[in-house]
Amino acid sequence: MNTASTLHLDQLVSALESEFARDARGKGVAKLLANYASAHEDWRAFALAAPEAYTRNLVARAESFELIVLCWQEGQQSPVHNHAGQQCWMAILEGEIEEIQFEEPRAGHAGPLKRTSTRTCARGKVAYIDDDIALHVVRPVPGTAGCSLHLYSRPIETCGIYDPDTGVVSQRTLRYHSVRGVPSAS
Ligand code: SIN
Repeated sequence: MNTASTLHLDQLVSALESEFARDARGKGVAKLLANYASAHEDWRAFALAAPEAYTRNLVARAESFELIVLCWQEGQQSPVHNHAGQQCWMAILEGEIEEIQFEEPRAGHAGPLKRTSTRTCARGKVAYIDDDIALHVVRPVPGTAGCSLHLYSRPIETCGIYDPDTGVVSQRTLRYHSVRGVPSAS
């Protein structure tokens, strides 16, 4: 990481590196993310949205974590998914983001996923999830757009995608739509 960067976002990355070096479970992570998300705007340089689907824009990747700006246009949402055994923090940068949680289906269970909770988070709020908690869908509040900052520890290469009607799971390889503001080749 470029420690000379004047971007508050890069200063956040340095602080996260120190936090993960100090504490493998990253207990101070939510506070660092909340402080950044409620006060700063320089994430906009990395926020490339697209009309087809929500975008995943990489800001920084280290052995212990990846930091990604997700852009959600009106009507876009993630599939129901797990987090491949990793930890996930989501800090709201702009708009209001809704998270709908589902119970992981028992092995051999066929049928609709059980929805367990819905919460809405506004700018500066941080939500946390891992596979012991739930599966989830993330989307902006219907009729609106938004952006969120996601931290995964460790980085996630593939995750399970669940059909909400049948509970059938398949594996999806995750990609970055851009890296440090440069669109990825599709
Ligand atoms: C994603 O990273 O593509 C989905 C959002 C999340 O898991 O929080």
